[in-house]
Amino acid sequence: MRRRAGVTACLLVIPVLLPVLPVPAWSQTPAYEVVADTVPMPLTIVPGDAARGRLIVASRQTGLCLLCHTGPIPEERFQGSLAPDLAGAGSRWSAGQLRLRLVDARRLNPQSIMPAYFKVDGLSRVGAAWQGKPLLEAQQIEDVLAFLQTLKD
Ligand code: HEC
Repeated sequence: MRRRAGVTACLLVIPVLLPVLPVPAWSQTPAYEVVADTVPMPLTIVPGDAARGRLIVASRQTGLCLLCHTGPIPEERFQGSLAPDLAGAGSRWSAGQLRLRLVDARRLNPQSIMPAYFKVDGLSRVGAAWQGKPLLEAQQIEDVLAFLQTLKD
């Protein structure tokens, strides 16, 4: 009888808790619309933060951009030589063009080695733990974009 009461209590508590449990970031991944060579609309309501974006670009854990790119981030000593210098990217490209580049660079160049940072479908060889999750969350994409826009020639 006590056991049944416990089960009943659990069944009652679960629906109450469900709405307050943290929603995994990937399930919030919104759709994005590609128009020509751009993703014109921001992925988030909150505008990107350039300072946070700079940290992501410099980070060897999150962005890993400097594996391939060089950029005006003097404190990072070892920078890549496989991709164009990020300096001036904010003059060369519009926000929408940069956003598509980050979301899915292969839409622009099918042979690109640049990772699709915000693509979750159509990928192959994705480990179980990473399935359905973009490399960067929507807000991180907007942060990186805000930083790139500060890189004017
Ligand atoms: C594995 C290598 C690699 C990584 C990692 C990478 N990129 Fe790229 N990126 C490239 C290559 C190569 C190009 C040149 C165009 C192409 O081939 O798609 C490029 C192009 C770009 C461009 C356009 C440059 C220009 O002015 O023509 C931008 C901006 C850019 N990447 C930003 C980033 C950012 C920001 C990150 C990290 C979040 C990043 N990339 C991570 C390889 C990489």
